[in-house]
Amino acid sequence: MRRPIMAGNWKMYKTPAQTTAFFETFQPLVANATHADIVICPPFVDLPAAAEATRGTNIEIGGQNLYWAAEGAYTGEVSAGMLRDVGCKWVIVAHSERREHFGETDETALKKLCAALEAGLTPIFCIGEKLHEHESNQTHEVLGRQLRGCVGYLSPEQFRGIVIAYEPVWAIGTGKVATPQIASAAHSFIRNCIRRQFDADAAEACRILYGGSVKPDNVAGLMAEEQIDGALVGGASLDPVSFASIVNF
Ligand code: PGA
Repeated sequence: MRRPIMAGNWKMYKTPAQTTAFFETFQPLVANATHADIVICPPFVDLPAAAEATRGTNIEIGGQNLYWAAEGAYTGEVSAGMLRDVGCKWVIVAHSERREHFGETDETALKKLCAALEAGLTPIFCIGEKLHEHESNQTHEVLGRQLRGCVGYLSPEQFRGIVIAYEPVWAIGTGKVATPQIASAAHSFIRNCIRRQFDADAAEACRILYGGSVKPDNVAGLMAEEQIDGALVGGASLDPVSFASIVNF
């Protein structure tokens, strides 16, 4: 019932020329894929090349971050309106690498979610526990806190506009994918939190992606879980053949 989303997060990889080359190979490989939303989030400087390469295709593009003000004296930042204008439909918010290295908090994430929604972008809001939290059984506590601190302040209407990505930090870039059972249990917990805050319909409708070492050889097992509505893919989205085989799982 929930339409899958297969999203690639390139992080700080690829130049504009490499972006164009990626789509030359990738686009024909996913041209017949109608079962999912296909999204690529490249670095900001690659967005014009990505927009050009995906025009008129079934591939959509997104930013990896944004700032909440519309414009102003904020050196180094990019607004939601700017992302929209260059052709983005999506934006990743509060990726764990932003939380870890760039001071992202639940509070800044909330401002970014609101700014993205206001501009008509679909935010992919990332949450997930660290390794020590995972090992000490604090996963639910962490997810609950990250949801309350951010999604907790959204109206039902705003909430309908967002997508959630569960990304256990211990699985990101480590090759240590969460088992489908672990991921599915976390997704169920998230859906229960949504049900408690909003209602059963909101919980049923919300698309929750899994992210963390998704590869061509493990994507089918994850996607077989009813609770998992798609994937947010880092490393394996950089290679067009590998990401196409994830999209076409
Ligand atoms: P990974 O990254 O697929 O390389 O683990 C996922 C992410 O950070 O979104």
